[in-house]
Amino acid sequence: MQMIHSVKEMNKTIRQMKSSGKTIGFVPTMGFLHEGHQSLISQAKEMCDIVVLSIFVNPTQFGPNEDYLTYPRDIKRDKMIAEEEGVDIIFNPDADEMYPLGESMLVKVNDRVDVLCGRSRPGHFDGVATILIKLFNIIMPDKVFFGLKDAQQVAVVDSIIKNFHYPIQLIPCETKREEDGLAKSSRNVRLSADERQEAALLNKGLQEGLLLINKGERSVSRIKKCVTLFLETHLRLGKIDYVEVLSYPELQSATSITERFIIACAVQYKEARLIDNIVADLDPDLKGEQKQYVAHIDEK
Ligand code: PAF
Repeated sequence: MQMIHSVKEMNKTIRQMKSSGKTIGFVPTMGFLHEGHQSLISQAKEMCDIVVLSIFVNPTQFGPNEDYLTYPRDIKRDKMIAEEEGVDIIFNPDADEMYPLGESMLVKVNDRVDVLCGRSRPGHFDGVATILIKLFNIIMPDKVFFGLKDAQQVAVVDSIIKNFHYPIQLIPCETKREEDGLAKSSRNVRLSADERQEAALLNKGLQEGLLLINKGERSVSRIKKCVTLFLETHLRLGKIDYVEVLSYPELQSATSITERFIIACAVQYKEARLIDNIVADLDPDLKGEQKQYVAHIDEK
């Protein structure tokens, strides 16, 4: 496994790989790898010749009061995990390497961002889009792998690829969960034991919404109310940030759900803000039963 820190060396290596006809799968991360990342890597390995993993805690996607400085970092451990998973190249630049002219130019995302996490994190997706465009330009991947746990990020990546005409296939991957249903996340380590126990209820709340849909309910406000009521009744330590039901990947609100939709929530704990969602298709052929969405947004 190669560990590369400079853009110049990365360019050279990618050029060599491409000229020998290898397909490149890219898994962008901010490190502190967990099973969610491991499953992205294994999907990338199945579908591509070379797997590039980036590890970079991107300063421009953190707000002034967010956890950029304290975001968990452990490059030694990440390196071991990546090696075990069969990653070919880790790209691990520093901030000066990725932002040689500082923040003199950032991408502005106008669509799909004023809802869900984007609403309470202004500028967050501008930072995400900026770093991903830089990484896509450097790594020139054939396929990119993103976890559906951050379904809004997947929707924004879909929009980046379409807006900037990248010849890249987006592969959204199913959320990895702990046994009790809690979505795996680098931030889970910050939960106290009691918070950790309670956090499993986020997914249960979303499932309540899906259950209601499966019984035939289509009203967005009633589905939202059902999930909110479940969380309000059961959460003692976490504070609900939002519960939303929107179209997916457009992230538009409507009075009733149609076709593909997302039920999403965010809950603030003392040291960690947790998010979770279910993306599902309203398929008339399934006679009211929903199937959870794990397929591609855009087949190229
Ligand atoms: O999901 C993440 O870890 C980050 O937002 C990403 C995609 C690596 C961009 O910094």
